[in-house]
Amino acid sequence: MGKRLLLTVLLLSAAAAAARVLVRAVVTPQSSGPVKRSQLALAIDGGAMEEYLESPTQKELLLEWIEDGAPQDEWDTVEPILEESCVLCHDGETEPDIVPLNQYSLAARVSRVRSLFAEKVEWGTMTRYFEEPGEKETVMCWIEAGAPESGWPEIESIMMERCVSCHNPETGVQGLLSLDRYRSTARSAEPPPPPPPTRTVMAASIGVLLIALAGLFLTWKKRA
Ligand code: HEC
Ligand code: HEC
Repeated sequence: MGKRLLLTVLLLSAAAAAARVLVRAVVTPQSSGPVKRSQLALAIDGGAMEEYLESPTQKELLLEWIEDGAPQDEWDTVEPILEESCVLCHDGETEPDIVPLNQYSLAARVSRVRSLFAEKVEWGTMTRYFEEPGEKETVMCWIEAGAPESGWPEIESIMMERCVSCHNPETGVQGLLSLDRYRSTARSAEPPPPPPPTRTVMAASIGVLLIALAGLFLTWKKRA
């Protein structure tokens, strides 16, 4: 009896996981528009950094790594490419405001899809506006904690000092995000929704769901 119960729980959770993927596939496509790409993918695929790559093969290898979710065990393949073509500038010293690409953890961060706010602020065109050491880290910690309203007063004073001169709807640069209010700032720091599952993942989920249902049927048939 114990074994049968255990098997049932396992099969039910497999079926539930597969069903969740399928529901997400049905719910997301219409609402999410074009799939957002990571900073690194955009920079090397049509962006300003592409010209530094030595060959199309390098680009393919990098894009594959990004697509796979920047796994650490494939860093060996990627590191020599970055070393050869990118680390000249991206060494964390020559240009302190651009992302060091000689460290796995940082290269992996810019390989993942993040909020526009995180991208611009941590290693993007807005990084240079921080002046005191620690300001950027304070803002990044707040974003990573989910941009809680309780932390806003501290962030607000940094925004007021460094960012709001351009980022306000009255006297700022037209069309930019308002960084003088909690709501709009927090909204821009929300991570984008996960992309809809690929066809392969959907096919696999359907398979898992069918096998799990068949398993449940066989497990309970004898008793019934
Ligand atoms: C000659 C120096 C130089 C080289 C070589 C270089 N970069 Fe850059 N990279 C920069 C500078 C400067 C910026 C900041 C641009 C800005 O703030 O607009 C930058 C920005 C970036 C960004 C952030 C883009 C963003 O969204 O703001 C990424 C990612 C990047 N580079 C990747 C690479 C990769 C990958 C390579 C190698 C194929 C590379 N870079 C080679 C100078 C360089
Ligand atoms: C001198 C004016 C200026 C200052 C100061 C400034 N920004 Fe920006 N910001 C811009 C411009 C122009 C853009 C659009 C171009 C771009 O994305 O690089 C922008 C874009 C952004 C974006 C993307 C959303 C949008 O509004 O387009 C974010 C997020 C952002 N800035 C955050 C900040 C933060 C945080 C600071 C303070 C550390 C800051 N900015 C300081 C001018 C400024």
